[in-house]
Amino acid sequence: MILVDEEDHIRIVREGYDKIAHLYHAERDTFDISRILEDFMSSVTPGGHILDAGCGAGVPVASALVDSGFQVTGIDISESMLKLARKHVPAATFLLQDMTKLQFDPETFDGIISTYAVIHVPKALHAEVFRRFYITLKPNGRLLVSLSQNEWENIGEYFREPMFWSHHDQDTSLEIIEDAGFRIIWSRVIQIRDEHPFWVMAEK
Ligand SMILES: C[S@@+](CC[C@H](N)C(=O)[O-])C[C@H]1O[C@@H](n2cnc3c(N)ncnc32)[C@H](O)[C@@H]1O
Repeated sequence: MILVDEEDHIRIVREGYDKIAHLYHAERDTFDISRILEDFMSSVTPGGHILDAGCGAGVPVASALVDSGFQVTGIDISESMLKLARKHVPAATFLLQDMTKLQFDPETFDGIISTYAVIHVPKALHAEVFRRFYITLKPNGRLLVSLSQNEWENIGEYFREPMFWSHHDQDTSLEIIEDAGFRIIWSRVIQIRDEHPFWVMAEK
């Protein structure tokens, strides 16, 4: 496999999730993020419009947001994931979009959440992702994102299909988020199941 640029890495992720969408969803409820989600929801304008970037199958994030009265738009690069999300959360809107090329009007959203998704974006493009998140959020809008503790990039296997992961270390991630214009509210490593993702809550 010859990899030329970031687009190749994004293609690996898209093709991977297109094939494993059902398998991923079947295991998803073993990752309980309800407390972090509640913290985010309590900090966003009630009933506000929230973007779920890299929404996957819509559960548990988009579903919890809709159940709590938010208007939800989810985006993903995998059609298979979007198909599941539309089935699971009919009250939300789900669009095929790459978060590195996010296409919404400035100041569209009251909040943006992205769980276990930026970890699949080539790290050379993380700054671009946070720049677009910033533009797309309303003033004082909230961002919640899960990242990784350590710098790391790899093509491996996930549910027996090729998959790509890419991470900065914590300090670099915080620097990138602040450089995009955000104010960090809190950041911490939170163990979830056997993993230790680095979570960041920030404000525009
Ligand atoms: C591990 S799943 C997480 C899904 C969901 N957020 C959750 O917490 O269950 C990663 C998702 O991010 C999506 N994704 C990866 N790179 C993306 C990109 N550049 N733009 C939009 N979605 C992306 C994948 O297709 C996949 O559905």
